[in-house]
Amino acid sequence: MRLSNVPSWQYLLRDVLELYYMGSAGGSAKIRTHMAEVRRALGKVFEDDPEIDYGPAKMLPVCEHLDRAISSSTGLRTAKVARSLESVRGLLNWKYGYEKVPRGLTRKYGYTEILGPNGPVVSDRIIVGCVLFAPKTTYPAHSHKGITESYVCIAGNTSENDAGVYAPGSLIFNPPGQMHRITTADREPCLLVYAWTGNPEDLRNQKMSFSKK
Ligand SMILES: [Fe+2]
Repeated sequence: MRLSNVPSWQYLLRDVLELYYMGSAGGSAKIRTHMAEVRRALGKVFEDDPEIDYGPAKMLPVCEHLDRAISSSTGLRTAKVARSLESVRGLLNWKYGYEKVPRGLTRKYGYTEILGPNGPVVSDRIIVGCVLFAPKTTYPAHSHKGITESYVCIAGNTSENDAGVYAPGSLIFNPPGQMHRITTADREPCLLVYAWTGNPEDLRNQKMSFSKK
């Protein structure tokens, strides 16, 4: 099945694209370049009209927090993407992405890919997905080799490297190799959209792994 035949996935990708059109780069040249790269890659994906390959849907314990995250975005400019995600939620494959899930994270974290070499929308131009964190979660320090990463906060509040607090609509930028550790608020879940840009080889071979201190 092609993307052009599945409106719900088109809407979801268009809403992600809109985040990268409407959001500000805050005056940062590096972030502006990354946002333009995300827009360019997503634009190409629409031109390519790639296959959608769902595979089996899978839930994780953290999905218990998805309703709350989606409803907490009501009235915010991130609500649209949250609602588009909701409309495909029955098809999503939530993963930990680690051979050994760090203790304490099994009920508190999961991610689901939307677009990338592994699908569901199959493309090697860019990886886009969502991460969901339960309240009071610490996601251990990690980095991504050869990958430039941005997170856009969709619901809840989060902090990275104790450097600030990001609310819905905020963009967090991690250049390749930069270590980052994420924490979430005490009582509310946090939903983030992420985009990874890099060369196709790096995107294909990316492994989730935590740094050992
Ligand atoms: Fe990351």
